[in-house]
Amino acid sequence: MSTSWTVPTLARHKVANGGTPLVMVTAYDAPGARMVDAAGADLILVGDSLAMVVLGYDDPLQVTVADIAYHVAAVRRAKPTPLVVGDLPWMSYHLSEVDAVTNAATLIRAGAQAVKLEGGRKRVPMVQAIVSAEIPVMGHLGLTPQSTHAMGGFRVQAKEVAAARALLDDAKALVDAGVFAIVLEGIPDVVAELITAEIPVPTIGIGAGPTCDGQVLVFHDLLGFEDRLRPKFVRRYANLGADGIEAISRYAADVRTGAFPADAETYHTSAEVAAALRAR
Ligand code: KIV
Repeated sequence: MSTSWTVPTLARHKVANGGTPLVMVTAYDAPGARMVDAAGADLILVGDSLAMVVLGYDDPLQVTVADIAYHVAAVRRAKPTPLVVGDLPWMSYHLSEVDAVTNAATLIRAGAQAVKLEGGRKRVPMVQAIVSAEIPVMGHLGLTPQSTHAMGGFRVQAKEVAAARALLDDAKALVDAGVFAIVLEGIPDVVAELITAEIPVPTIGIGAGPTCDGQVLVFHDLLGFEDRLRPKFVRRYANLGADGIEAISRYAADVRTGAFPADAETYHTSAEVAAALRAR
C-alpha cells in the first residue's frame, strides 16, 4: 500500500531523522500509474524521459509542456495514491518567471501535484516565482539531461572538489528558494552524501549512490523494456521487453496456425440463428 504523502510531510522526510528511503518511479500513462501505485511507491514522476522511453526521441529536448500535460492527465486518471510530479521540459522555464509559472500551472491543471525543474542557482528566480504561485517545486541537480549538449553528453558530474562544492551551493540555493525535494542524478556517492547531510529537504538519487533520502528509476529501465541503453545505475527487476516479444511471437504463431481464437474466445449466436445464417 502506498503512503498518502503531502508536500509538507515530504519536505521534512530525511533518512537521518529515521525516515524510510522514499521510492519514486516514473509513469506516463494510467496502467503504468496503477502498477506503480499497487507496488507502493511514494511518488510518481511524469518525467521528460517520456521523450526517450515512450516517444522514440534520442534526448529529452523534443518534449513540450503539452506532451507532459497529456501524460500527467493520463496518470492522474488512474487516481494513484503516490504524489504526482510533472516534469517541466526544456525551454518551459528558461526564459522568464512568467513562462515558468504559466507552464507549471498547465501541469498542475493537468493533474500534477508538484513540478520538477533542472538547474541550480540560475533557476532560483523561476523556483521562487513558481513557489509564490503556491506550486510545489522539486529541484534536479547533477547530470541534468536537458543540458546534454552543454555537458557534452550524459556524463557523471561533480567529480572534482570545486564542482562538488558548487553543486552543494546550488542545492542550498534551491532550498532557500523553496524546493521541497531535490533529485540528484549522476554524481559520485560522496557528493550525494554531503548534499544529503547538508540540506533539510529529501534528496532523491538516480546514479547518486545509496545515501540519498530516496531513489528514483525510470519505469521502462526498471522493468527491462529494452536493451539499447543500460546506464550503470539501472537495476532491472524484470525483462518485460524480452517477455513481451516472446508473448507476441506466440500470439503470431497461434494466429498463423489457427490456434487463436479458440471457441471459448469467440462469441456465438443461438443454434437457430447460426443455422439460418449458414443456410443462406
Ligand atoms: O525525466 C525523468 O525521468 C527524470 C528522472 C530520471 C529523474 O528526470
